[in-house]
Amino acid sequence: MSESENILEELDQILQNGLNALQQVQDEAQLGGWRTAHLGRSAPVMQVFARMSSIPKEIRQQVGQKANQVKIALENALEERSAVLRREALERKLTAERLDVTLPGRQPALGRAHPATQALDEICAIFIEMGFQIYRSPEVETEELNFELLNIPAHHPARDMWDTFHTTTPGVILRTHTSPGQIRAMREMAPHPIRVILPGMVYRYEQTNASHEMQFNQVELLAVGRQITFANLKGTLESFAKRMFGEGVRTRFRPSYFPFTEPSAEVDMECFICGGKGCGVCRGSGWLEIGGCGMVHPVVLQNGGYDPAVFSGFAAGLGPERIAMLKYHIEDIRYFWQNDIRFLEQF
Ligand code: FA5
Repeated sequence: MSESENILEELDQILQNGLNALQQVQDEAQLGGWRTAHLGRSAPVMQVFARMSSIPKEIRQQVGQKANQVKIALENALEERSAVLRREALERKLTAERLDVTLPGRQPALGRAHPATQALDEICAIFIEMGFQIYRSPEVETEELNFELLNIPAHHPARDMWDTFHTTTPGVILRTHTSPGQIRAMREMAPHPIRVILPGMVYRYEQTNASHEMQFNQVELLAVGRQITFANLKGTLESFAKRMFGEGVRTRFRPSYFPFTEPSAEVDMECFICGGKGCGVCRGSGWLEIGGCGMVHPVVLQNGGYDPAVFSGFAAGLGPERIAMLKYHIEDIRYFWQNDIRFLEQF
């Protein structure tokens, strides 16, 4: 056999070996190994190129062409095998991870606002509609703002109504009501007119029972201006009660006492269960209390930076949990913070 036939046959063999080996390749890693063995620098076909200078001139061109064809054939075969492997891998993945899109979906558990927060939001929304702005004021408060500047000096008997929690910093307490926010709002806005609500949590050192918790929300109302009268206070709270409980509801103002308002009143609404006739919910009186209120005391106006000879104002403090209890017939305020899902999921 001539040398040229020898080499050409060897090239045929190289191609055949390469193609056979490629059939055994099953994945990307093996494919990489095959590429090195059959197309890498020391692959048989590459060795033929390296030997070119020692091949007799007469057959060099023919051998060169053939070696090129073999190399291209191997490259093409590699491409094809690679595509087949990719397709097979994708098919395996699709089969293994098949989704049954006809299965019913899982219902995600939806959270919602706590009933006390819902009540707070509802009350705020009504006052916002009436032109009040929300004013935020801190839950950790100084005794001075919570008491003194509201006309409740130390040792005043009225302090008994608002026993509270103290922090380790002397003079810093958890607020017992949202009223200290009145001073903060006035000091920020004086001498301009004010129409704000102050919603938020308050704390009292309280013997808890069905209508008293030691932490609860309040919504404070404050309006200060040049001609604010008790009629404005009555109109505002009456309008609130109607929007909250329905057009037919009647309100009543009972004289009361708060050191920071003069005159002061408790505001009641007609019991919507019995329509005022007297029942278990209103304890036979026909009326239900929704908050305290009054005209801002001159000393408090002054502490807030307003001249009481020129300015007047009204204020009120409502209890959202108590209002929610009335609206939804909840008989014990302690349900709100017991965290019993059977209670919470009803709202
Ligand atoms: C006050 O806290 C006054 N700051 C309200 C006020 C503001 C009067 C502005 C005048 C002008 P009182 O302690 O009555 O007042 O509380 C007001 C409302 O908070 C009550 O009507 C009630 O709805 C609610 N409340 C009071 N104590 C509790 C309690 N322990 N648990 C749940 N709600 C309460």
